[in-house]
Amino acid sequence: MAETKRTATLTIDGVSHELPIYSPTAGPDVIDIRKLYAEAGLFTYDPGFTSTASCDSTITFIDGGKGELLHRGYPIDQLAGKSHYLEVCYLLLYGELPSAAELEDFEERVTKHTMLHEQMQNFFRGFRRDAHPMAVMVGVVGAMSAFYHDSTDINDEWQREVASIRLIAKMPTIAAWAYKYHVGQPFVYPRNDLDYASNFLRMCFAVPAEEYEVDPILSRAMDRIFTLHADHEQNASTSTVRLASSSGANPFACIAAGIACLWGPAHGGANQACLEMLQEIGSVDRIPEYIARAKDKNDPFRLMGFGHRVYKNFDPRAKVMKQSADEVLDLMGIENNPVLQVAKELEKQALDDPYFADKKLFPNVDFYSGIILEAMGFPTSMFTPIFALSRTVGWISQWKEQLGDPQMKIGRPRQLYLGETHRDYVDIENR
Ligand code: ACO
Repeated sequence: MAETKRTATLTIDGVSHELPIYSPTAGPDVIDIRKLYAEAGLFTYDPGFTSTASCDSTITFIDGGKGELLHRGYPIDQLAGKSHYLEVCYLLLYGELPSAAELEDFEERVTKHTMLHEQMQNFFRGFRRDAHPMAVMVGVVGAMSAFYHDSTDINDEWQREVASIRLIAKMPTIAAWAYKYHVGQPFVYPRNDLDYASNFLRMCFAVPAEEYEVDPILSRAMDRIFTLHADHEQNASTSTVRLASSSGANPFACIAAGIACLWGPAHGGANQACLEMLQEIGSVDRIPEYIARAKDKNDPFRLMGFGHRVYKNFDPRAKVMKQSADEVLDLMGIENNPVLQVAKELEKQALDDPYFADKKLFPNVDFYSGIILEAMGFPTSMFTPIFALSRTVGWISQWKEQLGDPQMKIGRPRQLYLGETHRDYVDIENR
């Protein structure tokens, strides 16, 4: 726990309470209110946790005002430009960049765990073909606890480590198989001679009838998408994983909970929602109509891919993603894609509009990731599973950190109760 040098004084009905203030290595100071209820009999009220730090962490730091994202201190643009996904996984999990030997050993361990228990295919086959791949992922990842009993004991360090590697390694196979099942093609098994991103692309797009060569530009773009989504401190799905884990739940159950939370359109589902919105807009001349709707208080419509709870500046991941989008679209020769034209013009018009500028609403990572994924050949329903696959390492790193935290308690928020007070039951004939 950080040291406290200052206190805040809270005076309620003439009685003062001293609350310790902690200074982090970066970011705003925090007021420790843990003893407030015991001492003053009051709760604090913060729906959506907009001002509440729920834990200590050393993994990821975001400065939303500056538009900065650091993993273990390293800026995301440097990691996305110079590193690659599995090295970033190592950094998130263990705290430091690996040596060449450590990276080789880590890659070997991940590669050797990519296959799924053969019987798990029965789970995929039990779903309807038209099931959303996220529904399949929630189910199959949760079901891993029924297959890998030797890595569910959270008190055993070795089991925690094996569960972490298994989840990072098997998630691409699970996501790819959810897709293959959906399109009615045979499952493609992982191949150990391919890197993480190429292996995933091959499991998604190869068919037994012909050879599939992974294009290095697509593989690099895929790896970047994984890297840019690897972790994002205490967002909704990560907090869900931590809350599930606080009860002592096994890692597969916790990650399944994270996947379920990520599915929502305000979180991981935003890139799917964004692409669908761009398709619905359809042509550049309809953009003003949609911008007007986004600004209208009486219309629930929002510009998907715009705005962020934490970033009140350009999302640093969006800058890298925009560059990747240009590379992929050049390769695929679809510069004149109407969706892309709408995206480019919408971005321009929204950034020039005082409504978005005043509210500090900038394009987020999801604005561009959907465009790249569509150009690669993924259907919109696969966008969120790819996000889930990428974020697994973040969830796992945060889960491991939480289990090692001596302050860990079961998560149990309080409430501001506004319902009926005590009343006696009335028999049905007297109501
Ligand atoms: N379009 C139009 N108006 C918006 C948008 C938007 N995309 N986002 C926020 N606003 C407006 C709100 O109406 C609100 O206006 P008001 O102050 O007049 O009431 C103001 O901006 C602040 O919005 P909040 O919803 O209070 O901001 P919050 O931080 O809670 O929301 C969120 C962040 C959920 C991401 C929001 O911006 C949004 O819904 N964006 C679209 C969905 C999206 O792209 N999500 C992806 C997030 S990134 C990720 O998960 C990887």
